[in-house]
Amino acid sequence: MSTDNIKEVVKEKYGEAALRVGKGGSACCGSAPSTASGCCDPITSNLYDASQAGQIPEEAMLASLGCGHPTALAKLNPGETVLDLGSGGGIDVLLSARRVGPTGRAYGLDMTDEMLALARENQRKAGVANVEFLKGEIEQIPLPDDSVDVIISNCVINLSADKDKVFGEAFRVLKPGGRFAVSDVVVRGDVPAEVQRSMELWVGCIAGALKDSDYTGKLARAGFDSIDIEPTRVYSIEDARQFLSGEGIDVDAIAPQVEGKFMSAFIRAVKPSEGCCAPACCS
Ligand SMILES: C[S@@+](CC[C@H](N)C(=O)[O-])C[C@H]1O[C@@H](n2cnc3c(N)ncnc32)[C@H](O)[C@@H]1O
Repeated sequence: MSTDNIKEVVKEKYGEAALRVGKGGSACCGSAPSTASGCCDPITSNLYDASQAGQIPEEAMLASLGCGHPTALAKLNPGETVLDLGSGGGIDVLLSARRVGPTGRAYGLDMTDEMLALARENQRKAGVANVEFLKGEIEQIPLPDDSVDVIISNCVINLSADKDKVFGEAFRVLKPGGRFAVSDVVVRGDVPAEVQRSMELWVGCIAGALKDSDYTGKLARAGFDSIDIEPTRVYSIEDARQFLSGEGIDVDAIAPQVEGKFMSAFIRAVKPSEGCCAPACCS
């Protein structure tokens, strides 16, 4: 599938998910059955606790399609500028806006019109002013160089067909010393291609999870330092059994190659500060 086709399929799937939430349904994008708790599967469920739920509109919580909780793990200080790549219904943008306070700013970036409409409606309900939802692609971020303190993202980078571009753009818009702090699905070690495809079907929509060493290598090539991948949920074959069986996949046959290999992780990295001889600090 070409890069443009992948984007169109992703937009269509998430557009449908946003419309479902708007009508009071679940945001799940098809891989797993909804449950009585609203959503969804071992990846998306129970990421946020009651104190966070109390800070944002219920609709923003219901629209959650992430696989982690980057705002809990990222250090956010009052007055900082935060950018959420693939902000969906806006949950992490709204939580970040509270953390950076009225002197800070939280941007959400998403390419899907229906998600942007849902996020803006959630912002209106939350009554927060220091938030802006931008339309655009994470491979071409519509913000100036050196303008963001912290980049967060929740289960979006695995959807991109050009991850090098995403990391390059993240590096460009971060200020020197700026932090990259994202949740994403990552594969530990080597997994046969057909097994990876089956598990990606389960993860949902269109996914292209990177191997941990590739994630680290790509971030380093983009210029980042202090790169770290911290597992937050490691999935077992039992998590995916029902879905994979329904797809006609022989689950017991692939189990040994899956067990413990697929995880949600929190990935940190830092854009190096300018050295002592950078133009701004030499004199
Ligand atoms: C899995 S959802 C996650 C949404 C949100 N981060 C959350 O935690 O609920 C993926 C979101 O990323 C957006 N997205 C996917 N690929 C994108 C891209 N290349 N550029 C901009 N947005 C993208 C989709 O429109 C969708 O809203």
